[in-house]
Amino acid sequence: MSGSATFSFTAVETLYVDTCVEGPDRTTVRRLLASWNSKAFRPVVVPSRVVGVKITPVSVHVGAEVSDVDLRALTAEQAAELAAAWGEYGVLFFRDQELEPDDHIVFAEHFGSIDVNKFFQKVESHPQIAQVLKEPDQKRNIGSAWHTDHSYDAEPARGSILVAREVPPTGGDTLFLSVAAAYDALSDGLKTTLLSLRARHSNEHVFGKTSEHPKQLNGRFENPELTGGAEHPVVIKHPVSGRPCLYVNRGFTTNFVGWTEEESAPLLEYLYEHTAQPEFTYRFSWEEGSIAMWDNRSTWHFAENDYHGHRRLMHRITVAGEALASA
Ligand code: OGA
Ligand code: MN
Repeated sequence: MSGSATFSFTAVETLYVDTCVEGPDRTTVRRLLASWNSKAFRPVVVPSRVVGVKITPVSVHVGAEVSDVDLRALTAEQAAELAAAWGEYGVLFFRDQELEPDDHIVFAEHFGSIDVNKFFQKVESHPQIAQVLKEPDQKRNIGSAWHTDHSYDAEPARGSILVAREVPPTGGDTLFLSVAAAYDALSDGLKTTLLSLRARHSNEHVFGKTSEHPKQLNGRFENPELTGGAEHPVVIKHPVSGRPCLYVNRGFTTNFVGWTEEESAPLLEYLYEHTAQPEFTYRFSWEEGSIAMWDNRSTWHFAENDYHGHRRLMHRITVAGEALASA
């Protein structure tokens, strides 16, 4: 607690001095008390433990809205609270934040190092930030199929932090779902089969030279020669929550290891249909200053493409992750 108190000056009668546990804050408190009678206001001293961030779940299976926090001035304690909530809820949403690109980077680094995406165009002044953009005259958007980011890497990114810079007047929502809840809802028989499988993930068909996506996305992807893939267990043990999570996705999974793509397709298709059931999902509507940070291991996301004729610009930072173990 030492040194982590937050001070605010209000006319409120309350003084939380007794909740200050230790350290130099007590000295500051004494100084404030000394000037108490000469001021028109009373000092209110609230240690960050008391301030706490407010975390409100937004649906049964996925997502929580976080309020009472300024992400530009996050304490280590608040960051730890957010990290725990991130693991628990899969996606955290924030409103009315004012993060400049530099602040976005500082915020992301509370949760790990930055895993710079090789394929997305970067914000020119800040190459750690990927640009997720659709112009008014463009028809395709980025991310309009259920997927999770970076599953094609041997150490897939822990999560992505998306900041809304310009949003259309309506539309442009992002849907999220819980692959932990989807897994839980499967039969024991299918769970047992899936626990024995690994799957291959690749980005060649998305970002590679032969892919149609980069052409349709008018230069919004780059470096088609840097494509690759990786294998992961089909059911992973979530590194934070320990929950089993179904770890295949329509965007990047190509086949079960040891199975052909043709053999894999029907079971993968079943899993995609099962997982995308509305009961596992939550829809988030963006405003400027909104932020969503999602965990790539426990969620999928889907970017709606229903705002033709308007510009939508988002900034994304991807936080580095780790190799994934089987559940
Ligand atoms: C992404 C993505 C969703 C969106 O940035 O990885 O899929 O709504 N974006 O822009
Ligand atoms: Mn994505």
